[in-house]
Amino acid sequence: MKLKFFSVLTAIVVISGSQLAYAEEPLTPRQSLGQRIFNDKNLSEPAGQACSSCHDESKAFTGNGGSAIAAIAQGSTADKLGVRNVPTLKYMAYSPSLIFRGEADEKGEVNLVPTGGQFWDGRANSLVDQVHGPLFNKVEMNNTDASAVAAKIMRSDYAAQFEKEFGPFAKQDPKMILANAATALAVFESSSRFMSFSSKFDSVLQGKMTFTPQEARGFELFKNEEKGNCLSCHVGKVESTDPTDWLFTDFTYDNLGLPRNQSIPANMNANYFDLGICKQEGLDKKLPPSIKLESLCGAFKVPTLRNVALTAPYFHNGSFSNLRDAVKFYVTRDTNPELWYPKLADGTVQKFNDLPVSAVENVNITEKPYDRKLGETPRLNDEEIDAVVAFLKTLTDEKSE
Ligand code: HEC
Ligand code: HEC
Repeated sequence: MKLKFFSVLTAIVVISGSQLAYAEEPLTPRQSLGQRIFNDKNLSEPAGQACSSCHDESKAFTGNGGSAIAAIAQGSTADKLGVRNVPTLKYMAYSPSLIFRGEADEKGEVNLVPTGGQFWDGRANSLVDQVHGPLFNKVEMNNTDASAVAAKIMRSDYAAQFEKEFGPFAKQDPKMILANAATALAVFESSSRFMSFSSKFDSVLQGKMTFTPQEARGFELFKNEEKGNCLSCHVGKVESTDPTDWLFTDFTYDNLGLPRNQSIPANMNANYFDLGICKQEGLDKKLPPSIKLESLCGAFKVPTLRNVALTAPYFHNGSFSNLRDAVKFYVTRDTNPELWYPKLADGTVQKFNDLPVSAVENVNITEKPYDRKLGETPRLNDEEIDAVVAFLKTLTDEKSE
């Protein structure tokens, strides 16, 4: 996807005292219409839930709609609970449609890997396509059809603004009204509010600020292939000082063998497993012959780490409530699995317990830092984990006010 608006994105950094304040570009009329739709609580059935209920700007557009279960959002009524943790919407306009891209492995062989798409499993191709998901999802905004949504938009307090942008309602059928609303939402989600590149990391990249010694050490460990090796999936171009080359994801998919989150209601059924991208409808027909559908079971999209300090809980199943544990999991999953997985009666640790037996072989156990064995020394010690966490905290964008 070509993002033209970046050439015109002129963010003004104002230094007030020792604090960095970040002024964002004003929204265009279409973006500001999108913002009003995004915040419209009347768009759910029953009314009360907007996109912003689950995607709260103060949490880098994550949240849970007021749910009693941290990791799982509540829908338009309290009894409707989803199955996945709400991802940040920041920088998601950069995700390409799902494609299969060639990537060389450690042996230098080129493999095709799924890349891009919206949602943890990439099932929507673009931000515009994505909008249909939440509006009609029973455990989210719960509308029955396009007419129901169109009627709400026609009654809304931004109706006049909508007609100004897309023409009179009389000339748009409900499907077109919905499509236009999706366009407005997508341009809002592509505005500088979602992609301000205003973190301390960005300032350091451009030579305007410096890391503390601990942050600098964390960044080195993050990049070092023998230590965190985080950069291999949470990608940035080492030689580049252009923030847009540092999205901290390559939008590929991986199976990390996470612990099961017992607080997800669907998980009360021991036979229920969230298998991620391999369950995407129609994927079997798009797959290149070199990829077996089953090999993708348990794989989820690599999320950006920008603003990760604001987006707890972590991972698709929200199995970690704090950032330090999420980082520690990476390096101790195999050396000290008892820290994260339940112990069976005979004392064995039930690793990778959020996957059916058939998908356990898909867990990444070769790429560093996941290549350790039981009892070996983790690739990062406690003090190094702290440094990586300190570095990750530099990825938080400045607020807009
Ligand atoms: C009830 C809470 C809830 C509401 C309301 C909601 N979302 Fe989401 N959103 C989620 C969850 C959960 C996911 C992840 C679902 C998945 O991956 O299957 C998600 C994923 C997304 C994604 C994909 C991001 C990524 O990283 O791939 C986008 C974009 C998005 N939502 C936009 C919206 C828009 C626009 C609206 C309003 C029309 C909206 N959401 C309403 C909970 C919600
Ligand atoms: C082999 C690829 C790979 C490597 C290497 C990797 N990650 Fe990840 N990371 C992922 C994937 C895939 C996910 C999402 C997995 C899921 O939710 O099922 C993820 C998720 C995360 C999350 C949760 C973010 C969120 O919004 O929920 C954090 C934090 C994180 N990674 C940090 C790191 C750090 C720190 C390192 C280095 C120590 C690292 N990652 C190395 C692939 C990788």
